[in-house]
Amino acid sequence: MTIDRRRVLMGSTGVGLSLTLPAGRLIAAPAPGAGEAGALPMPPVGDTLPAPLPVTDPSRIGFDEGWLFHAGDIPVPPATDHEQTYLRAKAGHAVGAAAMTYDDSDWQAVTLPHDWASFQPFVESANVSQGYRPRGIGWYRRTFRLDPADRGKYLELQFDAIATHATIWVNGSVAAHNWSGYNSVYIDITPFARFGDEPNVVAIRVDAEAMEGWWYEGAGLYRHAWLARRAPVSIVTDGVHCDPRRGDSGWHVPVTVTARTVEAATATVTTRARLLDPDGRMVAEARSQPVAVSTLDTADLTLDLAVPAPRLWSIETPVLYAVEVTLERDGATLDIRRIPVGFRTIRFDADRGLFVNERPVKMKGVCLHQDHAGVGVAVPDALLAWRLSRLKDMGCNAIRCSHNAPSSAFLHLTDRMGFVVMDENRNFDPAPDYMAQLEWMVRRDRNHPSVILWSVFNEEPMQGTPAGVEMVRRMAAAVHRLDGSRPVTAAMNGSFFEPVNVSTVVEVMGFNYYQSDYDRFHALNPRKPTTSSEDTSAFMTRGAYANDPAAHVITSMDTEAASWGGTHRETWRRIAERPFVAGGFVWTGFDYHGEPTPYAWPTIASFFGILDLCGFPKTAYDIHRAQWIDDAPVIGLAPHWTWPGREGQSIDVLVLSNTERVVLKLDGRVVGEAKGDRIMGNSFTVPYAPGTLEALGYNGGRLVARAAHATVGAPVALRLTPARRVMAGDGVDVQPFTVDAVDAAGRHVPTANLPVRFAVEGGTIIGLGNGDPNSHESEKGDARSLFNGLAQVIVQAGGGRGPLTLRATAPGLRPASVRVDRLAVATPAQVPPLASATRIEGWRVSPPLAAKPDPAFAPADGDNNSWAFQRSGVATPPDASPAWRLYRAKLTPPRRVMRDGGTLTLDNVSGKAEVWIDGRQIARKADPRPAPLTAPVPAGQGERTVVLIVQSQAGAVSGVGGSATVAP
Ligand code: GAL
Repeated sequence: MTIDRRRVLMGSTGVGLSLTLPAGRLIAAPAPGAGEAGALPMPPVGDTLPAPLPVTDPSRIGFDEGWLFHAGDIPVPPATDHEQTYLRAKAGHAVGAAAMTYDDSDWQAVTLPHDWASFQPFVESANVSQGYRPRGIGWYRRTFRLDPADRGKYLELQFDAIATHATIWVNGSVAAHNWSGYNSVYIDITPFARFGDEPNVVAIRVDAEAMEGWWYEGAGLYRHAWLARRAPVSIVTDGVHCDPRRGDSGWHVPVTVTARTVEAATATVTTRARLLDPDGRMVAEARSQPVAVSTLDTADLTLDLAVPAPRLWSIETPVLYAVEVTLERDGATLDIRRIPVGFRTIRFDADRGLFVNERPVKMKGVCLHQDHAGVGVAVPDALLAWRLSRLKDMGCNAIRCSHNAPSSAFLHLTDRMGFVVMDENRNFDPAPDYMAQLEWMVRRDRNHPSVILWSVFNEEPMQGTPAGVEMVRRMAAAVHRLDGSRPVTAAMNGSFFEPVNVSTVVEVMGFNYYQSDYDRFHALNPRKPTTSSEDTSAFMTRGAYANDPAAHVITSMDTEAASWGGTHRETWRRIAERPFVAGGFVWTGFDYHGEPTPYAWPTIASFFGILDLCGFPKTAYDIHRAQWIDDAPVIGLAPHWTWPGREGQSIDVLVLSNTERVVLKLDGRVVGEAKGDRIMGNSFTVPYAPGTLEALGYNGGRLVARAAHATVGAPVALRLTPARRVMAGDGVDVQPFTVDAVDAAGRHVPTANLPVRFAVEGGTIIGLGNGDPNSHESEKGDARSLFNGLAQVIVQAGGGRGPLTLRATAPGLRPASVRVDRLAVATPAQVPPLASATRIEGWRVSPPLAAKPDPAFAPADGDNNSWAFQRSGVATPPDASPAWRLYRAKLTPPRRVMRDGGTLTLDNVSGKAEVWIDGRQIARKADPRPAPLTAPVPAGQGERTVVLIVQSQAGAVSGVGGSATVAP
């Protein structure tokens, strides 16, 4: 019989490259194709770029580049004298690393997303839950200019998240505090902004000693940042609510737009919305009534878009429309948003679970933390998309964002790829600060068709108390005020049968574990929809097939689980056979750093994942493919078949398939046969003999699926396999490359554990991993060992068109090289960073004097009144007759200037002038006309006093009309 390969979906352990070999591969033998023994256990190489994420807010551009980072805190010595104390209490006068003039010239240049914890070594004394990585405190600074044309606009700085506690200064004023690592921070910088030559400085102190979770949380500016520049009358961020509803006579989209003005007068505006179908054609349009927005206030505009019969969004066909909203005044467009939406209904039924578009959907879900090998929580969008595609390929249709809101990119991807999502709040607390976090999540995420449940907590000890009930009531009410269309749940781990417990005040009951209580709860609460919110917590080390407690290795034959959990097979069996349980969420989809369980140090990561830290499949991947994929035959086979020295010994074999009948053959001879059990798999015991072990799946007597493992030889060469052959040449795109070792016949060697070194041209390695939860190798740099046959290199493409070449070498093996093409694509716009310079921001200016003052002339300590405070760049207004003034400033030069000396540059000085530093005259300007003035700054430590003595001309401005900078 011949097998039609296109129709056969192999188990992951049998999936390989049946496509053209990547250029540069050095082995002679052709690589095994999909389903053949020795194939790489990864999906086929892709040929297309991932689609760009939607631009929902064209008013904003990237703020990811040009950051400077300092690891560790920079404490400010306490103020001692009165003047310092007085000034420190003033807006715009932040001191230390928050000061505009702080010398950051030797800080490290970084690009967001950036997780400084991912660069740290593993340290036994560091926190176990955070994966033994010191987190600590760090500082970021970024300098940029705003065009004079931006004056008068509404300006907002946006951070998708910062781990964990952050204080953000803009131009020396505290602009925001933020107390969670999982919510966005939107900062109105309009009042602080400076334009033209005057630079703007953002300084952020991040305290990642603070913890909000018991898993690896990373540290720093680990998601994207943007700067929005909008008309003074604009749409507020997350200020469009446009979640489609099905009415009695077809569909409609109720649209609410929140407008704000920073103008001095009330603004009367209207909004217009257009519904665009997936091809961009307008299918509905409506305009609101005019609404008056009071100055420095907000107001809502509403309208309704009717669309009788749109194409529906579903997990299988995630059709997205877009609502394009414009805010208008007098016919002119002020602001625009384009929000992807999906038309779908959701309903939870107490007996039959979830219905999407009135069709039952069992949630085949996973819980996810955020991090990935090599990059920590700073997961680039393309890597996030790749991770989600690994889950989609497994038949997963549901994701629980445990235990925090995801990045904004995440939900655009789940909308597009077809997942349903339980969006979860981090902090269980109805106090105003925390309620604001919950409300932010709902406002940001309520238009996403993929979001179907709001979870207000995970496993809270107060879940069975009156206090807990009161807290949930308030939080659920806050959610429903913002979103009337999705139920609220809470992930409970007990107290289900307490007379007072929070299940009574949520719409969907969430069970974490406690599977044996499902039936009793359902019997006692027959009208309460129920789902497993978390389950399984099984242990597997990828590629290991026996327990070795001393080495902290756990078999991936699905026999081991936490005492509170269950194996992958047993857990799903209990969910699958109960229609009233809406679905399950396996703890976890991917391994994650931290919370090493059941083993701690030197183990630094979890064993729970269906996929390991790199996204390499464990046996659980094939288990769930067989359980979850309904529309194609699937087969997988464990373990591999390379066991030298074990000839004649019995080996337990697991066949995972959704086919009716499975047959196991060794070198063509039937060694097992059974009715296929897609939930529990089929177990066999086979006496080991080298050869090819083959699992065949039959439907209706026809062979429809095949997976095989051959006994392979010693590794002789390396092999590199990209996820795709093309990358965007935008300096942003990333992709994981798989490195493995092959034997003389070109077959994957699943037992290879050997060191590999990498070199890349046309890109940058941003992280490495191998999925070994016990490895302390650095996840940065250019070296990583294969672990049970595999390692991963995550490469970021350089900018522009051209090749990207990755090379791998290992002692004694033939090296590998692979080339992918960087395609010419537009680089996403970024606010250009400005090199930082030490500036004199402001001066104390004496009153006008009739005679030339002595350079030592100064205001008395504590006199904050008789001398003016004046910024550089603001000239002194004209005098009726010539007058003398003395300008004084304190200056701490950059460290290089302290060492070698440098130059003080005053861009624009009007009047005759002398410059003095620390009592010595160092420059003179005899011509009163406006002109630059430069003066040498002598080397020397510490703070300097700069004095400018200026004589004005009658009727002309005088003083420092431009910037004042000090540079080496
Ligand atoms: C659950 C908890 C998860 C994780 C898991 C490990 O109780 O919700 O965050 O700790 O246990 O099994």
